[in-house]
Amino acid sequence: MQTVVGIDLGTQSLKVLFYDFSSREVVASESAELDLYQNEDGAAEQQAHWWLNALHEALGKVDPAVKSSAVAVGVSGQQHGFVPMSKSGEVLAPVKLWCDTSTVAECGEIMEAYGSEQSCLEEVGNLILPGYTASKVRWFGKESESLYEQMDCILLPHDYLNYYLTGERSMEAGDASGTGFLDIREREWSPGMLKAIDPNRDLSECLPALQLEPGITGRVRSEIAKRTGLPEGIPVSTGGGDNMMGAIGTGNVSQGKITMSLGTSGTVYAYSDQPIVDPRGEIAAFCSSTGGWLPLMCTMNCTVTTELMRGMLGADIRQFESAVSSAPRGAEGIITLPFFNGERTPNLPRAKACIVGLDSQNTNPENLLRSAMEGATFALRYGVERLGELGVEATEILLTGGGVGSATWRQAVADICGAPVTVLKQNEGASFGAALQALLVLEQGVEQDLPALAEHHLSRNEVLCCEPKNSSVNFYNEAYRDYQLAVGAITPLYT
Ligand code: XUL
Repeated sequence: MQTVVGIDLGTQSLKVLFYDFSSREVVASESAELDLYQNEDGAAEQQAHWWLNALHEALGKVDPAVKSSAVAVGVSGQQHGFVPMSKSGEVLAPVKLWCDTSTVAECGEIMEAYGSEQSCLEEVGNLILPGYTASKVRWFGKESESLYEQMDCILLPHDYLNYYLTGERSMEAGDASGTGFLDIREREWSPGMLKAIDPNRDLSECLPALQLEPGITGRVRSEIAKRTGLPEGIPVSTGGGDNMMGAIGTGNVSQGKITMSLGTSGTVYAYSDQPIVDPRGEIAAFCSSTGGWLPLMCTMNCTVTTELMRGMLGADIRQFESAVSSAPRGAEGIITLPFFNGERTPNLPRAKACIVGLDSQNTNPENLLRSAMEGATFALRYGVERLGELGVEATEILLTGGGVGSATWRQAVADICGAPVTVLKQNEGASFGAALQALLVLEQGVEQDLPALAEHHLSRNEVLCCEPKNSSVNFYNEAYRDYQLAVGAITPLYT
């Protein structure tokens, strides 16, 4: 047996998956939980060594015989996290994550120093939004001057795992586009944006080599092989951000498909042969990790919303499903604005979640849970519509992420977005995508292209696919309008 390994460094956990590509079977899939530090200023941080511990814990659960069958590794990681590294490879500070909203002031300062929002979009392709790496770099320079001076290299979360596995420092275009300082049209660092972040330092000296196409980043070091049980010297592919790897893992590698991920964050994205820059800056103009582009909308509160409400109401997963399926669509008028972590889209980083429409008749756990699920989905419908306005139509939504486990949520996505929902049998999303990228790199000599590879290894799970129901689509069109009105109403409270 030969396997390729997909590693996905998420926010809540790190997953490892071993895929036997001849029999097309996932032969091992393990995970380890991750802590998350958050405070009322919007900080959201993890220590880089927690990721390494989680990697060892997850790999420690895999049968040694399976581990020794690995022939290549691919790493996926939460986007945007800022890993400042010293010359000797020490991580200088806790890693500020994609959901950290404590550097909003720095976002504004950078865009002002650059010129204007308009010039950011025209020249670099993206606004500097809360969560992106750029504002974290500036914040670090102000907050910890002496550590900032020791910073020799900037990495992103998946780059850091690649570095740990191989000893190589590198970045690839997909994840790099989430920094905010990559010129996404040219796929090169933007000197103007780097200067706007810090006019007193040449930050390009801290940026590792940029890999423009999927390839080999390095090979598993002997020391890591000894510690993990992975074979020494096997190739580690470039990897990428979790959404970029989710695109591969859902077969979104050619134009005409939309992927929606119901994870800690909610994302909606599509592969494109051309850069797609949103004049409003709401759809992020990211690069894919496959040589193209990946216009994407991200909300900071997807399963965050359902999990918080589920925890508060003491419902386990089974009880959650029974509650959301028994509550009527629209939750009898309750609307959840799911901004528990602040929000990137709409750009309300200081927002808090709000529940409106409660009365003496409708206030019950079933409605609250249903409304949490619907609110998180309404937020994503905005992304589907905005992509449509930019010419990326949703004829089908490829659904991935933890929320896929709920039959009621799958149907709600179809009804709220008015499009058929496709679920794949290989529903591991980002970690599967990372494994497929590793396979592609391994088989590069065999001349197989990515769409063909994805086609060969991915198949529909017919039982879980669903179609929108006309009456529900009409109902949700109205409910979505109310949701948007409610967002508009609370906006002045948080701006
Ligand atoms: C995308 C984003 C999130 C993270 C979550 O811009 O911030 O989807 O990648 O892991």
